[in-house]
Amino acid sequence: MYLPLNKNIAGFVFITSVFFACKQNDTPKQVNTYPTPYEMSVPPGFPKPELSSINPLTVEGIQLGKMLYSDSILSTNGRSCTSCHLAINSFSLPIFNSWSGRKFSVPAHINLGFKKQYNWEGSQECLDTLAMDDFDPEFFNTNPEILYKKLAAHPIYPTLFNQAFGISDISKIPFQELKRKIAYSLAQYLRSKVSVNSKFDQYRNKKALLNNLEYEGYVIFYSEKGDCFHCHSEPLYTDQQFHNNGVSNTYVGFDLGRQNISNKEEDKGKFFTPTLRNIELTAPYMHDGRFKTLQEVVDFYSEGVAENQYVDPLMTKRNGTRKLNLTTLEKIQLIAFLKTLTDLDYLNK
Ligand code: HEC
Ligand code: HEC
Repeated sequence: MYLPLNKNIAGFVFITSVFFACKQNDTPKQVNTYPTPYEMSVPPGFPKPELSSINPLTVEGIQLGKMLYSDSILSTNGRSCTSCHLAINSFSLPIFNSWSGRKFSVPAHINLGFKKQYNWEGSQECLDTLAMDDFDPEFFNTNPEILYKKLAAHPIYPTLFNQAFGISDISKIPFQELKRKIAYSLAQYLRSKVSVNSKFDQYRNKKALLNNLEYEGYVIFYSEKGDCFHCHSEPLYTDQQFHNNGVSNTYVGFDLGRQNISNKEEDKGKFFTPTLRNIELTAPYMHDGRFKTLQEVVDFYSEGVAENQYVDPLMTKRNGTRKLNLTTLEKIQLIAFLKTLTDLDYLNK
């Protein structure tokens, strides 16, 4: 019973593959409507990227996301993603004041393909659909009718939607689905952008030397003296965990951090450890931008950490206190090291 069937299948496969081969040779100009798979380049030492089987990376999807990222076509108020994720700030924004009264230091878009949770409190777990909220009145205030019209009239978008997602007629899909596909393409684009060319990366790859200040700062960062590496761990400079690093002594509103999402007492004041890559470019610092400069950040870690029961045990140092008591010179050295994490090439990618 099985044998003839198998033979038939084998014969069929053989014939169709010949057929495709001939067809391709005969009509080389025929447009391929299938997306081209994109292989993400993972730098040595980096973890496995957080990819998605429902939204695999494709050349066309990334191209679509790249165009939409900086295009105000999505909004009715002139805004695009790059209104709040500015290239010069490593795709972040100093401060965004939300309608709810929350003040955000907007997180940088950098190495997002490796991130496991998103936003300061980890309020989003899925990068693929994260941008779907951006069509709301507070952000893009998108008018679906106008958006459909503009996309359909665009010289490139209809083709890219077709190539990336097989949507031959944008006007035929419901708004929810259109938003989803736009969010998918943006997620693909963001995943494809990898920063791995800071001075410190070059130092690790034996292509650059650190000066004295930078080198001493590097030692402070990675030793008990500064003890930064436990949470801001290489190569992403985040351990992908939530910690209370002691910025607050009272906990209300945004300062409750992760507890706002999980409702757990043990999450009070915890935030997703932010990356320190391109930290020089993303002032002011912490979730609400309370520190204006890296000097203020280092002063805080040295002698300003809060004294309350919710602060992470990792913030208690060898001397039994939460104070690093760095000297003026050590602070300068630590800041010099932090600046070696800047990757200017990444901004032009
Ligand atoms: C009006 C300002 C604004 C606009 C426009 C905006 N964002 Fe954001 N974005 C934010 C803020 C604020 C946060 C942090 C929210 C939080 O922590 O709860 C954020 C966070 C993010 C994050 C999470 C980053 C991380 O490291 O966790 C991603 C991804 C993101 N935005 C993508 C986009 C995309 C894609 C667009 C365009 C569709 C966009 N944003 C448009 C303000 C904006
Ligand atoms: C216990 C874990 C932990 C340790 C140890 C730690 N950090 Fe942090 N760091 C965090 C968390 C969590 C935040 C975000 C807190 C917030 O937003 O309120 C943060 C924020 C920062 C920021 C601001 C990032 C931004 O995008 O605004 C800088 C800069 C920084 N840390 C540098 C350091 C340095 C330098 C050290 C060592 C002296 C250090 N950290 C030690 C967990 C830690």
